[in-house]
Amino acid sequence: MKTYKKGKILENIEIGPNIYKMTLDISLDGKPGQFFMLRCDSFRNEPLLSRPFGICDDNNLTILYQVVGEGTDIMAGLTKDAEVKILGPLGNGFRIDDTKDKKIAVVAGGIGIAPLLYLVKNLDTKADFYAGFTNDSYFTEEFKPYVKSITYTSFEKDGKFITEAFDPNDYDIIYACGPNPMLKAIHDMNETAEIQISMEAHMACGIGACLGCTVESVDGEFIRVCKDGPVFDSREVFE
Ligand code: FES
Repeated sequence: MKTYKKGKILENIEIGPNIYKMTLDISLDGKPGQFFMLRCDSFRNEPLLSRPFGICDDNNLTILYQVVGEGTDIMAGLTKDAEVKILGPLGNGFRIDDTKDKKIAVVAGGIGIAPLLYLVKNLDTKADFYAGFTNDSYFTEEFKPYVKSITYTSFEKDGKFITEAFDPNDYDIIYACGPNPMLKAIHDMNETAEIQISMEAHMACGIGACLGCTVESVDGEFIRVCKDGPVFDSREVFE
């Protein structure tokens, strides 16, 4: 049975407006696209509920997160050597065994960029990387050594969504992580590519027990994002 293990924060820094990168002193030996649950006792003396985070890097386990509420606000206040508890790696991860000589696009929407660095580091073929942001871009420089090209859009600056920057049909495989409407838009534009999407969901347990993260598949089955995913073929989820 999986249990939480302890880790210590090496670094917790703001890399963009309300976007933080946290690095820990442990490694999970996870696969790209897998995630883990993180829990910490906050400096406000309230235990922080577990939250899911994708593996952004795993040499020293790294996450990116956006401060969007009380939990992530507490996380942003944690400093070096603070202790956190980690459960993982969890979920299925991306399928990357058949990427040699394939034409690949990796597509990020906002903070969905987080698990994609660990993905591009592990692909056999360099991908074209596309990243869409609402405002300022962040973290794209980290991708430079591992991808063939980088394209990004900022909706507030140039009025464009990232889905307007490429044609999925130019690729054999697309890996995407971001808001569900972006994932659906890529699916709708596509006729020929295999699309692997990493879905976002609220997760309380992360291990398939609470059913809080279920979504309905196209076959009408209820699938758990944490246990059956978080990576799905887009045809399993979107008509
Ligand atoms: Fe509990 Fe998925 S988070 S079943």
